[in-house]
Amino acid sequence: MKKLLTIIGARPQIIKAAALNRAIQSKFSSQLTEVLVHTGQHYDHGMSDVFFEEMGIPQPNYQLSIGSGSHGKQTGKMLEEIERVINLENPDALVIYGDTNSTLAGALAASKLHIPVVHIEAGLRSFNKRMPEEINRITADHTSTLLYSPTKAGLRSLEREGFLSLDEAQKKGKADVDNPYVFHCGDLMYDNTLFYSAKADEYQSLFSTHGIDKGNFILSTIHRPQNTDDINTLAGILSALNEISLQNQIQIVLPLHPRTANMIQQSDDSEIKSLAENLLFKIVEPVGFLEMILLEKHAQLVMTDSGGVQKEAFFMKKPCVILRPETEWVEIVESGCAVLAGSNPVKIKSGYEHFSHKGKLEYPSIFGDGSAAEFICQSILEHLT
Ligand code: UD1
Ligand code: UDP
Repeated sequence: MKKLLTIIGARPQIIKAAALNRAIQSKFSSQLTEVLVHTGQHYDHGMSDVFFEEMGIPQPNYQLSIGSGSHGKQTGKMLEEIERVINLENPDALVIYGDTNSTLAGALAASKLHIPVVHIEAGLRSFNKRMPEEINRITADHTSTLLYSPTKAGLRSLEREGFLSLDEAQKKGKADVDNPYVFHCGDLMYDNTLFYSAKADEYQSLFSTHGIDKGNFILSTIHRPQNTDDINTLAGILSALNEISLQNQIQIVLPLHPRTANMIQQSDDSEIKSLAENLLFKIVEPVGFLEMILLEKHAQLVMTDSGGVQKEAFFMKKPCVILRPETEWVEIVESGCAVLAGSNPVKIKSGYEHFSHKGKLEYPSIFGDGSAAEFICQSILEHLT
């Protein structure tokens, strides 16, 4: 039996962990056991507990309750606590997801204690080191032993940074932090979307609760610091969404991340205040994962700066205007199913126009077949010595 210590903390990591936990429970419970550590990076009910409830994830074995803070303070506290838990649990490997401060703290704590790190969602790059996530993911990749990239672009980025191909690394010897193995494995989030798509239909009351016009709304999420920390930038994005809504008589549904909600609450910007006059503009609290899947299923189009929501729009065959100047999910843009608009109001509006006039889009198979979690479990068993 191999013991995995899994670090989660931010909303998307809880969601991703559901897929691996499901695979462990259903197919690998005699060979793998998982100890869940929640750093507490996200702590509101709608940013954390709701996912455990809806997705049947076991309660964390350790709740570190670190909470919010500056990067150094938050990551530092996590590092100290994760080190303590590793020493108590002595796991065979530590599993981390994505690129948050919880990911970074896990990678640093485990690699310094010579515990192999399994990085899921490895290799993704924005090539923009002003994003905190870029620093986190590069550090996590370069301290990991088993790296699972959901895309071929991710695999190529790792090889450009000096990682050997799997064949070459296997010829050199066993997987080790000095001889890491890299895999292309598909996307756990696709596993989740397939698994929960039908169940999400049970949440239809969401539409009447919020007065959402099913099929005639744009789904939007905004939470990146580069879009939210400067109020003029945020006001520009929201005004562009408002104009699109008024000119096309289409609803905007914006489940609001607390970072963005805080900015809006503190602001006396007149453009932001005027959003309240547009009854088609629906700002709602963050929703659960099943509600989110349902919204993605019925939206006409998605406008987001979220990595996960970009992908889920693609899984649901919905065009996407990406509210960022670049993306790690380059294949989606290359396929013509998404455009990059950044925070530029003109580009946001022309992104909407672009897809309004576009015929049927093709959504090629990029993210695997919905069995990434099983692949990862099998591979951990094969390669972790
Ligand atoms: C973090 C990740 C980001 C990921 C996002 C997912 C880092 C550096 N960033 O960004 O990569 O895309 O999670 O959502 O790790 N807050 C609350 N309640 C909560 C959580 C946060 O009010 O439950 C507020 C706090 O004011 C906090 C702010 O949101 O300071 C930002 O939270 P934080 O976790 O630091 O960063 P995110 O923007 O959520
Ligand atoms: N999500 C959710 N409720 C919301 C907004 C997002 O369940 O109100 C889900 C979304 O479906 C996706 C994940 O959260 O699975 C994406 O997380 P987020 O946008 O916070 O972070 P990112 O993916 O950008 O790191």
